Amino acid sequence: MNNALEEVKKRVDIVDFIGSFITLRKAGRNFKALCPFHKEKTPSFVISPERQIWHCFGACGEGGDVIKFLMKWENITFFEALRELADKSGVKLRDISYEDSMWKKKERLLRINQLAGEYFTYVLFKTSFGKKALEYLKNRTIKEQTAKKFQLGYAPSSWDSLLQFLKKKNFEEGEIQQAGLAVKGEGSKLYDRFRGRLMFSIFDARGNIVGFSGRNLNEDEEEAKYINTPETPVYHKRETLFGIHVAKEAIKKEKNALLVEGEFDVITPYQQGFENFVAIKGSSVTREQLMLLKRYTERITLALDEDTAGKEAMKRGIEEAERLDFEIEVVQFDFAKDPDEAIRSDAARFKKALKKRLPIYDFVIDQAIKTYPPDDAFNKRKIGDEVLPFIERIRNPIVQSHYIKKVASILDVTEASVETLIRKIKRKKKEQQFLTQSFKKSENGDRERNIQKYLLSLVFQSEESYRIAKKIFEIVSPQDFSIPSYEKIATLYLEFENKHSSKFHLKTFANKLNFELRPVFDEIYLYATYQGELEENVERLAYEIKKIALKKKITELVAVTEHFSKEQEQEVKKLTNQLKEVEKMLLPV
Ligand code: CTP
Ligand code: MN
Repeated sequence: MNNALEEVKKRVDIVDFIGSFITLRKAGRNFKALCPFHKEKTPSFVISPERQIWHCFGACGEGGDVIKFLMKWENITFFEALRELADKSGVKLRDISYEDSMWKKKERLLRINQLAGEYFTYVLFKTSFGKKALEYLKNRTIKEQTAKKFQLGYAPSSWDSLLQFLKKKNFEEGEIQQAGLAVKGEGSKLYDRFRGRLMFSIFDARGNIVGFSGRNLNEDEEEAKYINTPETPVYHKRETLFGIHVAKEAIKKEKNALLVEGEFDVITPYQQGFENFVAIKGSSVTREQLMLLKRYTERITLALDEDTAGKEAMKRGIEEAERLDFEIEVVQFDFAKDPDEAIRSDAARFKKALKKRLPIYDFVIDQAIKTYPPDDAFNKRKIGDEVLPFIERIRNPIVQSHYIKKVASILDVTEASVETLIRKIKRKKKEQQFLTQSFKKSENGDRERNIQKYLLSLVFQSEESYRIAKKIFEIVSPQDFSIPSYEKIATLYLEFENKHSSKFHLKTFANKLNFELRPVFDEIYLYATYQGELEENVERLAYEIKKIALKKKITELVAVTEHFSKEQEQEVKKLTNQLKEVEKMLLPV
């Protein structure tokens, strides 16, 4: 197994691999990026091509190898990630041990879902219970072939037919419940969650059925129109896009994904040859969904419902999408309630509307004008409030200036006054950022720790490692590092230097470290790339550490001793003198 792991890591280059998901920027020997695992504005995610590792110095503070990255990216277990990368790189995993229990459990839940999907399809097409649902589909112009492509089905009205079916297949009640297919009723008896509903299988991008949604066939009934699989170990609403398994190839080819709200808004267009549609299922677009799309396209088109909820959802999604560097456009089917109705009512008009994609900024401006007709000063102000935060975020100055002109002309004011407002928004944002930043500083607030990490990082990253080390270790000794693992690494470094005095060899050094020190070392190694060049020079930082170490020593000595011996007195005096010297070095030049 370990061999396979090493083999996979040899074949998959971490920079290429992570670079296929997010944008990387070269930073010295390493690469930097905005961390894909949390929100941030300045890059704190660092990758080393030489060492094939990554680390995030921001909110998540995690790091590891390419497997660890994929585990986090797809929210999967170690074995799943290993298997995926092995497949990709052509490594055979014959004797993989199936010990990972979470992985096993997920596999079983996926198997349950697959069987349930087959069961629903069978009931729909092959039994008399499915008649009504087939009729319903026909009324909505869905052909059998399309229904099969999306694996639609029917859950019969019975209380426990699926439950019985799955139990016969040797699954336990607990598992079936965990898959979200059964719920506990009174007297803790289990019954089927989906009853008497048209069923949509929800697939992930790899083609596993992760969950279901079921549509009520009686419009007038009081029950919810749609019910969905709840959160389970394999179904996470935030990460799910209905239709992605069918649409992903078309999305790649068209270099565009159409985001719609509902299942039918995917299926009906698909049937007419529009295959790059995926649904967010009524809620606002999440970062997780956008990250999934980012694997296939840099561009998205929002085609949300005409109601205000849809529009609000759109606006909320925009910021996330901007942050992930998507090009965002909007289409409007204003002659119908949603894309499904639009294409059925007038396919030609649907096509035309689809061609009239509007850049997101024009859409936001249009919306604001509709809501606040710009014929009095107050409405104009409201348009500004609504629109300018979007314009402010435009990074390309030419594009931004285009929209500043546009807004100025609509409001019939000078461009200068629009620019002033934009500057004001910028300033406010900066203030806000400053507040959260200084909060962050005091939170993980360890200047001392960070300096130690930075100094060591410089030593390990430098082409002239021993030269930098000399500068530093002339001032501090490993014992001056207050973090025990840093002290240990510094000590090992100096030992290494003694043995291999001609040139420092990073890989040999790293390979010698024991298991516990590796992750600490990886973090230290990447840290200088994250920090970039500091204003303060290396010696000054080293003196700062020395000063702290000396002060600590003196305090300790004084604290534990009631009556000083002569030697102790000497020692304190010596340290105090040293401290004075160090403080002199730290005086401003
Ligand atoms: N939805 C849901 N649960 C609900 C209502 C809606 O999960 N109780 C999701 C469904 O995926 C639905 C989408 O939100 O498709 C949009 O809801 P809505 O506009 O109400 O339904 P339509 O998509 O128009 O559904 P239909 O065409 O079947 O009427
Ligand atoms: Mn609809």
